[in-house]
Amino acid sequence: MRVVIEPDYEGMSRKAAAMVADLVRRKPDCVLGLATGSTPIGLYKELIRLSREDGLDFSRVTTFNLDEYHGLAPEHDQCYRYFMEKNLFEGLKTRPKRTSVPDGLARDVDGYCASYEKAIKDSGGIDLQVLGIGGDGHIAFNEPGSSLGSRTRLVVLTEETITDNSRFFASADDVPRFALTMGVATILEARKCLLLASGIKKSKVVREAIEGPVTSQITASALQLHPDTFAFLDEDAADLLELKDYYKHVEKMYGEHGVGRRAAVAATR
Ligand code: F6R
Repeated sequence: MRVVIEPDYEGMSRKAAAMVADLVRRKPDCVLGLATGSTPIGLYKELIRLSREDGLDFSRVTTFNLDEYHGLAPEHDQCYRYFMEKNLFEGLKTRPKRTSVPDGLARDVDGYCASYEKAIKDSGGIDLQVLGIGGDGHIAFNEPGSSLGSRTRLVVLTEETITDNSRFFASADDVPRFALTMGVATILEARKCLLLASGIKKSKVVREAIEGPVTSQITASALQLHPDTFAFLDEDAADLLELKDYYKHVEKMYGEHGVGRRAAVAATR
């Protein structure tokens, strides 16, 4: 895993956005996997800026979102479809060709989840997946104990996730208890993964995910098995990493020497 540490949230967001933009320029019909939550908002703002000021063209791009609360209609102002419209799609100069967010009102949940997986496969698979990390180490809504072989399915949210996400609702009681989520194995099939984390509150779980054992108790740790994952962190989120200085040294060396695929981040500086 490449660990890219930036001084602050803005720098981290710009660096991650540059990697997404680079893909969209090289492969205009690429498939992006997208996340919601506070963390990727800066990345989405930067993509909107690049679309409006630099002509970054999303018109042939397909997107799939990681997850959605179960039981919320697409118009609900806390559902993830609404979040994506407000924080990315509506702002872009050219809207992506196709955008998919799991349907929180799906009735035949198992059938729907299988069709979401099929739609990802039929699109050619996800080229780049954007991810945040939950306080309990989840990626998407793969809560502790989720099988590392899990696929898209209905899950029960943990109390920690409900409390964390209650900041967006009138009260914790209003947070849905279930969600539809891509599985860990679905995520690991993406060709490239970008894990974003910012703030001191995430530092402990970031260390567990990046430097701890691979475990279903911290599903983000499964990214250690993925051959092309970048973790974009701000200094606060990176605070407890034991090898922090080494990760910085690695990025500096790649930046200075620009070797092969490894030069990708350097090129975006
Ligand atoms: C959202 C998602 C979640 C969030 C995670 C972090 O689509 O999949 O895993 O990425 O809960 O949320 P924030 O960024 O709000 O801390």
